[in-house]
Amino acid sequence: MFVPEDNPSTRAGVALGRQLYYDVRMSPEGQRACASCHLQEYAFSSPAVRRGLPHINLAWSTSFLWDGRFEGTLEEAMLMEVEEFFVTDLERLRVPELERMFDAAFGTPEVTAERAAYALAQFQRTLVSDDSRFDHYLDGDDSALSESELRGMSLFYSERGECFHCHATRLLTDNRFHNIGLDAEVTGTGRGAVTGQAREDGQWKTPTLRNVALTAPYMHDGRFQTLEEVVEFYSEGVVYTDTLDTLITIGGFRLSAREQADLVAFLHSLSDETFTTDPNLSDPN
Ligand code: HEC
Ligand code: HEC
Repeated sequence: MFVPEDNPSTRAGVALGRQLYYDVRMSPEGQRACASCHLQEYAFSSPAVRRGLPHINLAWSTSFLWDGRFEGTLEEAMLMEVEEFFVTDLERLRVPELERMFDAAFGTPEVTAERAAYALAQFQRTLVSDDSRFDHYLDGDDSALSESELRGMSLFYSERGECFHCHATRLLTDNRFHNIGLDAEVTGTGRGAVTGQAREDGQWKTPTLRNVALTAPYMHDGRFQTLEEVVEFYSEGVVYTDTLDTLITIGGFRLSAREQADLVAFLHSLSDETFTTDPNLSDPN
């Protein structure tokens, strides 16, 4: 985890970040908070937000959003959210109870967009998910996964499924961009639209698969409602275009019905209830 020298986490800083994350005064109309679209029970995503992304282990990310159009530190990403996405009216935050929290976190009660972003970044660094049944298995508990989940895991880490190359490491993402063959026409879409490089057309950020059973709908445009549909796509729905990732088989990996069910079972074992019910991450009010 990268923590910049000028923003070490403190108890008061995390408390302020958590407050702001849940505070509707962050939006100029005073009607929505980050948590309106990033709900803890859905691993900080929302079933109602079609193109949403969850907030899971973002402390290890340096590029944000589906097409990675924002690159930088978590602090910079949060500042972008505050200034450009929410266009927060700081006057709304200049109230005694929040000024006291700014004072505790930063030494003076002054409310600035940068301070709000720094506090939000400190809170983001506490959104760590590492207590799923899959983690218990990796930590040596052989009984943590069922037979079906174990078969699904083997497929996930095999050269037939190829999943682990991109959904890599314990983060279950390589934090890079790939075209997995969803569409027949990808010109000027995805990463390519950001970089202007045609060879990156149709590439999107690899989402983490942690808590993936809770983060429907799936893909950058929310086209799939269930994990069964996603796995069926990888099995037989892959479409060829020039920028298709070389790890992906044209036409799909051709998995049997049982293999598909096993993969879906494995994906369910990545849910982390400690994370989605942790009282330290919930609405403080
Ligand atoms: C109206 C719904 C909504 C609200 C409110 C909202 N977000 Fe999001 N958030 C989204 C969507 C949709 C995406 C994905 C957008 C994309 O990639 O183009 C996203 C993506 C993100 C990401 C990138 C995650 C990643 O994996 O790259 C971060 C960080 C983020 N939001 C932070 C925040 C913060 C902080 C707030 C409050 C200041 C907030 N969001 C409020 C809908 C929302
Ligand atoms: C070449 C890299 C790569 C490989 C191999 C790969 N994925 Fe993905 N995966 C991605 C990317 C990139 C996305 C997002 C694509 C998009 O939205 O357009 C994705 C999306 C997903 C999603 C949807 C997650 C969400 O939050 O929307 C699931 C589930 C998934 N992959 C599971 C798998 C499984 C299971 C395998 C193996 C059969 C696999 N992936 C193989 C890169 C890969």
